[in-house]
Amino acid sequence: MKFFLDTANVEEIRRIARLGLVDGVTTNPSLIAKEGREFKEVIQEIAGFIHGPISAEVIGTTSEEMLMEAFDIADWAPNIVVKLPMTEDGLYATRALSEKGIKTNVTLIFTAAQGLMAAKAGATYISPFIGRLDDIGTDGIGLIRDLRTILHNYGMHAEIIAASIRHIGHVEQAALAGAHIATIPGALLPSLWKHPLTDAGIAKFLSDWDGRKPNL
Ligand code: E4P
Repeated sequence: MKFFLDTANVEEIRRIARLGLVDGVTTNPSLIAKEGREFKEVIQEIAGFIHGPISAEVIGTTSEEMLMEAFDIADWAPNIVVKLPMTEDGLYATRALSEKGIKTNVTLIFTAAQGLMAAKAGATYISPFIGRLDDIGTDGIGLIRDLRTILHNYGMHAEIIAASIRHIGHVEQAALAGAHIATIPGALLPSLWKHPLTDAGIAKFLSDWDGRKPNL
């Protein structure tokens, strides 16, 4: 499973990237706004040290606006993926961009039908939002499972990004359900390697070591 970081915070990405665990980055307008910095500047700074796919989202709502923005964004760095919303205009733009060889990530997917449409439109990535589905009492992980089956049934090449991840259970279940990628908020990532029993085990080993008999 590939790990993307779901953040626009350059320092956070830099810190975690040094572990060699970051395969790519996803951003969205809310994450960019949180940084209070210029969109292009943030994306280009990330592209300066992350060589995997970096999703940057359009804010236009018509296909004309989306395409105009997309052609600009796609030029910012060689590894840019244009993120588009799951709408009729978004599907049109996805098809047009895929025909030009520009990578796309169709976002805000909440049903298997939406995922199928995005994959048929030629999306490189499709992003089901599992946390937001769980928030409304729906089975987010079930959606990942269904999408994986649909892509397999028809030999479609889109990759599933498990998005809107809230806790490590989501990462584990998304991996079991066959998501190709999990995009994870930076603050959550350390909980993937931390466990209180690991910390307690280290403390016990060290105290036993300190208390060993001389010459052993
Ligand atoms: C995915 O690409 C989105 O940026 C993200 O996962 C949304 O997550 P949220 O529901 O926590 O805002």
